[in-house]
Amino acid sequence: MDVQRIAIVDPSDVTREPLRNLLLGIESVWLEAECSRYEFFIDVARQSVPDLVVIALDADHSKAMQLIQQLTMEFVGLPILAVSSRGDGQSILQALRAGAKEFLTAPVVLEELLLALNRLRSSRLSVSADGTVVSSGGGPRADSVVISVIGSRGGVGSTGLAVNLGCNLAQDQNNSVALVDLDLALGDADVALDLIPDYTLADVALNIERLDMTFLKRSLCKHDTGLSVLPHPVQLEDISLIHEEHLGRLIGLLRASYTHLVFDLSKRFTPTDMTAMRMSDSILLVAQLELTSLRNVVRMLHTLSQDGDLADKVKVIMNRVGSDDGGEITLAKAEETIGRPVYWQIPNDFKAMVGSRNAGVPLLTHAPKSKAQAAIMGLANALSGKSAPEAPKKERRSFFSFK
Ligand SMILES: Nc1ncnc2c1ncn2[C@@H]1O[C@H](COP(=O)(O)OP(=O)(O)O)[C@@H](O)[C@H]1O
Ligand SMILES: [Mg+2]
Repeated sequence: MDVQRIAIVDPSDVTREPLRNLLLGIESVWLEAECSRYEFFIDVARQSVPDLVVIALDADHSKAMQLIQQLTMEFVGLPILAVSSRGDGQSILQALRAGAKEFLTAPVVLEELLLALNRLRSSRLSVSADGTVVSSGGGPRADSVVISVIGSRGGVGSTGLAVNLGCNLAQDQNNSVALVDLDLALGDADVALDLIPDYTLADVALNIERLDMTFLKRSLCKHDTGLSVLPHPVQLEDISLIHEEHLGRLIGLLRASYTHLVFDLSKRFTPTDMTAMRMSDSILLVAQLELTSLRNVVRMLHTLSQDGDLADKVKVIMNRVGSDDGGEITLAKAEETIGRPVYWQIPNDFKAMVGSRNAGVPLLTHAPKSKAQAAIMGLANALSGKSAPEAPKKERRSFFSFK
């Protein structure tokens, strides 16, 4: 869901605080600005260009009405939500006539606030000259692509895929990509990219209440490829700081500023793993052509199918295809076992993969011409809708030989 960037004005601390806390608890809300003077708010709005403004009326009804009129004139179509403890017909009517789109009675109840925000969100859609429906205002990006990567057993290649997928996606100038290491205990995305983080997920969780864009951006480590990385906590005891609500909010916020999010998950179906998968568009389930892995794919698909539509989002990625250890199960047999087609194959490429991992450099720098890099770049393109997954699949089938 897109983030709504909100600015609020309320001269009274007593009513502003609870309203602010309520807004902060909503995953899809980004509190862009807070103001305690009606007179200053127009400037605040000019600077922060919010998607929506909340105006508390009670401190000074006539100043508030004036402000609403001013905002309506200067920011045509900017949704205004008025809040007052005076829920009488007269004040509601006044606020609406001045230009407010919605009115809520204080103290504001979360459910009503959510409904009002939703109505205002849909009212932001407007029709452009050529008749297409567009979202007005230069707010957050429309649809970020959210991808979870999870392994069907240890060492199957999920971190390698998450890291290299992130780096490849970041090559496109139009993309801004963040990788979040959610393998909270044993994650090693930072090692794979030779990053020494200043901040980790634990810092973000500790500061989740007052999280703002500046803090969030500073918490992510920028890699040379352009990929931003949020590493797992350094101290194992800090893992307990990270709750799924934190993650829900964090993901909501990251979606506002990145076009692509990639999560490297643990393999333990923790509450944070589940939250990440629920908030993902695709779940890349990494497998290999051997029995333990394939059996786990079946078990994992079964578990995920019991949680809403999670299994529908799964794309099985077959890693290390063509490894010459002799015991490899055929692709056809694997597809039969797991009961669905394999979405993408990554060839066994020991030299490139292990070399790149040991050097702490992604494939596109370490082994740009390797088969593994080509396969992962193809996957990145397919996930970005740049090429249909069907076409390259046929090609690959004939290119690699399967027993
Ligand atoms: N396609 C591949 N070909 C060869 N080795 C690979 C391939 N993918 C991953 N590996 C190697 O397998 C090991 C485990 O990979 P990793 O990504 O850490 O797995 P996971 O995160 O699932 O535990 C690493 O040493 C990695 O370099
Ligand atoms: Mg890993």
